[in-house]
Amino acid sequence: IKRIALSTGGGDAPGLNAVIRAATLAARNRGWDVVGIRDGFNGLMAPEEYPRGDGVIELSRESVRGIVHTGGTILGTTNRGNPTAYPVQQPDGSWVEEDRSDELIAKFREREIDALVTIGGDGSLTIGNHLHERGLRVIGVPKTIDNDLENTQSTFGFHTAVDFAAQCIDRLFSTATSHGRVIVVEVMGRYAGWIALHSGVACGAHAVLIPEIEFDLEPVAETIRQREERGAKFSIVVVAEGARPQGGEVSVLGKAVGQAEKLGGVGQKVADGLTALTGKESRVVVLGHLIRGGSPTAYDRLLGLRFGAAAIRALEEGKDGIMVALNPPTVDYVPLASVTKRQKHVPIDCDTMLTARDMGINFGDEMP
Ligand code: F6P
Repeated sequence: IKRIALSTGGGDAPGLNAVIRAATLAARNRGWDVVGIRDGFNGLMAPEEYPRGDGVIELSRESVRGIVHTGGTILGTTNRGNPTAYPVQQPDGSWVEEDRSDELIAKFREREIDALVTIGGDGSLTIGNHLHERGLRVIGVPKTIDNDLENTQSTFGFHTAVDFAAQCIDRLFSTATSHGRVIVVEVMGRYAGWIALHSGVACGAHAVLIPEIEFDLEPVAETIRQREERGAKFSIVVVAEGARPQGGEVSVLGKAVGQAEKLGGVGQKVADGLTALTGKESRVVVLGHLIRGGSPTAYDRLLGLRFGAAAIRALEEGKDGIMVALNPPTVDYVPLASVTKRQKHVPIDCDTMLTARDMGINFGDEMP
C-alpha cells in the first residue's frame, strides 16, 4: 500500500476525529500516504465545488494534531451525493439518480489511492460495500450515536449522547419537582431506543418510550396518577424520536401520528396526550442535535482511536470488504455485507429492559 483515503459520511458523531487521527498516524507509521475526502465523497465526486482545490486534502501528522477531544469531523460530512444514486439534472430541469460508482472508483485510481477507509453509518457502509464489490479495497468503521449498527457491541458517539442526555434529564428533575409538572424529554433514536433507554434508566425516569414497543399512553398516565397518589407530583418521560403509538394513533387526541410524519414531533404529542389524560401541566424538551454535538467522552475518544488503528491493521493484514467491530475485550473484523441494511434494535427482554421494569419504569405497554 502506498496511499489510502479516509472519508466520513452521514450524520456526525463525537469520536469521528479520533478515528481520523488514529488511522492517519497508524498509516503514516507504516510509511503510507493518507488523504481525506471532504464531505463524504463529494470532494472527489464534485471537485468543482471546491475552488481552492481542497476537495481531497493531504492528512499529515500536523493536520490531525489536537483533534481527539473535538466534536464533529475535520473532513466534513453530508447525507447527499451518494455515488450509487447520484442526483443528475436532466436538460428539462428534472432530476434522476445514476449509479456513478465506477466513475468514483476511477477517480480513486487516478489519484493512486489503494484503499478507502469509510467511517459511517448504515448508508455509508452500504455504499462502501457496493464500492468493494466493484473492485475498490474498502474497510468500514462503524459510526452512529444511535448505537443501532449490527455486529458491533457499540459505536462511538453513543456513550457521549447518553452521557449528555443524562445530564439534561438530571437538570429537568429539579425543575419538574419544583413545579409538579410532567416533563417529556425527546431524544434521538430514529429506529432504535438505545439512547432513550440508557439515559432514562440511568436517571430514574418514570416512563421510557422506544421504537421497539408501540406505546399506549394510558399505562404511562396511570404511572403518573399513582405517583401523584404517593405524593410525587412530578414525572419524567423519556421518548425516542422514533417511538410510535399503538395503531399509529394517540387515541386520547384522536389524531393520527403515522409513520409518514416528520420525525421529532412525538414528544409534543406525548406531552399533550398525558395532559389530556391526567389533567397535569406538561412541558416538552427536544434535545435533538445537542446530543450529537460537542466533545466526545473519554470512552468514545478511546473507541474511536481503537477503531481507526484497527482499520489500518486490517489493511496491513490484507483484509478487504470488512468492518472493524467492537467485540469486547477486542476489536475484530466482520464482513461489511453483514452489517448493511439492517438495524440493531433493543431486545425487549435484555437485562437493561428487565432492570428498568424492576425499577418501575413504564414502557407504555403494561399497566403499572
Ligand atoms: O442517525 C443518527 C441520527 O442522529 C438520528 O437519530 C436522527 O434521526 C438523525 O441522525 C438526524 O440527522 P440529520 O438531522 O442530520 O438528518
